[in-house]
Amino acid sequence: MYALIGGSGFTSDDVITDREEVVVTTPYGDTSAPIVFGLLGGKRVAFLRRHGRKHEYAPHRVPSRANLWALKKCGVEGVIAVGTVGGIAPELGPGGIAVPDQLIDYTWGREVTYYDSPEAGVKHVDFTHPFDRALSARLIAAADRIGVPVFKRGVYACTQGPRLETAAEVERMRRDGADMIGMTLYPEAALARELALPYAGICVSVNHAAGIGDSAEKIDFESLADVVEKAVLGVVEVVKASL
Ligand code: HPA
Repeated sequence: MYALIGGSGFTSDDVITDREEVVVTTPYGDTSAPIVFGLLGGKRVAFLRRHGRKHEYAPHRVPSRANLWALKKCGVEGVIAVGTVGGIAPELGPGGIAVPDQLIDYTWGREVTYYDSPEAGVKHVDFTHPFDRALSARLIAAADRIGVPVFKRGVYACTQGPRLETAAEVERMRRDGADMIGMTLYPEAALARELALPYAGICVSVNHAAGIGDSAEKIDFESLADVVEKAVLGVVEVVKASL
């Protein structure tokens, strides 16, 4: 059974059937929402809504340590994380889908490790390839099989949020090699690695990043809800085909 972490625009209500909600307790507090066990395209999944049932957790407040711990405790074999991004790469205009293969962390002050007490000890986990390559390849193969175009690599820049970036920040990240910007796959990816849980991301672009193309002047994030909803449908199909 795989776990899905759904981001903005990806709720379980419409895509998961035969649902059963389970509250999982963790040493790191409550998860952002109960875990929904159910079927996606006939396959059993554990679904977790990253921003909470009512979208109450801002990106920097998502209880990622509790979320990943709870999924591990449920015995999932891997985590497919869905996230929205602003696109920097030309391939990632609104509606574009990407399976990133690299990540740069621009966040600060988040709880990014399980090894942060004398009792837990110190561990420097390998993070050379932050996304599980087999699981990412599986997503890409599924997309190819059903004919959904996806950008098959990409550097995911994780920003702190919740505000969007300045044009200069985006330009700096572009120079750093970033292809897309989001606010949530870190620290999830690192925490999953500490738990030895295969973790892959599938990202949907809902806007050009600040300063690029039609985002040269302003990004009206709330007005992007329609783009998000439509683009996420493609992601759901890819995830379904990958299970
Ligand atoms: N920046 C950061 N996160 C995002 C964006 C963006 O432009 N769009 C969607 N998530």
